[in-house]
Amino acid sequence: MKVMVIGGGGREHAVLRKLKENPEITELFALPGNGGIAADAACVPIGAKDIASIVSFAEDNAIDYAVVTPDDPLVLGCVDALEEIGVPCFGPRSEAALIEGSKVFAKNLMKKYGIPTARYEVFTELEAALDYVRSSPLPIVVKADGLALGKGVVVARSREEAEDAVRASMEDHKFGKSGERLVIEEFLEGPEVSVLAFTDGKTLVPMVSSMDHKAAFDGDAGPNTGGMGTVAPNPYYTPAVAERCMKEIFLPTIRAMEAEGRPFKGCLYFGLMITKDGPKVIEYNCRFGDPETQVVLPLLETDLFTIMRAVTEERLDQIQVKFKDAAACCVILASKGYPGSYEKGYPIELPEKYEGQIFVAGAARKDGQLLTSGGRVLGCTAVADTLPAAIEQAYALARSVKFENAFCRSDIGQRALRAQKEE
Ligand code: AMP
Ligand code: GLY
Repeated sequence: MKVMVIGGGGREHAVLRKLKENPEITELFALPGNGGIAADAACVPIGAKDIASIVSFAEDNAIDYAVVTPDDPLVLGCVDALEEIGVPCFGPRSEAALIEGSKVFAKNLMKKYGIPTARYEVFTELEAALDYVRSSPLPIVVKADGLALGKGVVVARSREEAEDAVRASMEDHKFGKSGERLVIEEFLEGPEVSVLAFTDGKTLVPMVSSMDHKAAFDGDAGPNTGGMGTVAPNPYYTPAVAERCMKEIFLPTIRAMEAEGRPFKGCLYFGLMITKDGPKVIEYNCRFGDPETQVVLPLLETDLFTIMRAVTEERLDQIQVKFKDAAACCVILASKGYPGSYEKGYPIELPEKYEGQIFVAGAARKDGQLLTSGGRVLGCTAVADTLPAAIEQAYALARSVKFENAFCRSDIGQRALRAQKEE
């Protein structure tokens, strides 16, 4: 079978590595992929948002199955367009991807169906939004409605910060159309947990939980990034919390989507906060998380392609999905300066032999040499019996990769270790 994966980051690399384990797949393509992914799939220089070219490629190359992973093509209707020409896909149609594409939609859905989340108001007028943040308790959270490259959320600790966030979105149009509507919501406190789940619209199977580290520097300092590292499982996701999430959040969400005529098929990402009043939804994503996927999929025992096809064919209830009883850690090596501006084009030296897995996020290949080309360059993942061992091995792997201007956080997993000790 010929399978194509849309996207070109560390997450797509992790997905491709897993797909490679299935012997039925004879050819694997990545659109566009990257210089590191090229070792595992044929990379085709078509951008993930170029739906028309993706469809032509699928048609011209008789693609049998497509996996659409990034948010943009999902929201833009990539799955709808591929299904129209008869290519079965893993990923939601655009009507269901709206759960990530519009925070207003997601919040209204949760309100209508009683799914626990932060209290909120929606604004379309600058003055009304400003009045609201001038009188509400602090901190207050300002969120652009649409996709904003993970930068559309501001946790404002002062009035000035809150007003700046409102103005940036509604007056300066920092996020274009995405920021014309705002969700302004109550600040919640508690540890965060990411749970990815396979769902065919009726059955939902949560994957092993994970913990992201979004801030750029140690101790959760510095600006927010796409994610500087992850561990799985997340110790805050106890069996009792998991049970409540299934009953109060996961199943109600897929039932709500079905009731709204937008059945969700694919990977649904629940960004949760475990508050003193129980788990609440911080955000939904309509796709695998990055870098959560780089720790979750290495722990998956069941064949990924088998699960994906069961999702597409709506028979997820008929298969067993198993995860290893082990721990994983992923340390992201980034270019110094990220998430701000950074230099690129530095040669990357990978060790000849190593334990663990290296997922490449931002690298190009020139004359056989891997060169840095992005902010997040690669993810070093290790799986071990215990979390301390996984952390140690992931860092050992990270130290064995060399490129100029590399930086990583040195405390990935430390919060999880502390939580484990408190148990
Ligand atoms: P997002 O870009 O939607 O993933 O949000 C970025 C981060 O903002 C989340 O991971 C949370 O740490 C934080 N955040 C979002 N909403 C809230 C909230 N209502 N209360 C506290 N923190 C929040
Ligand atoms: N790691 C968070 C995300 O993928 O949005």
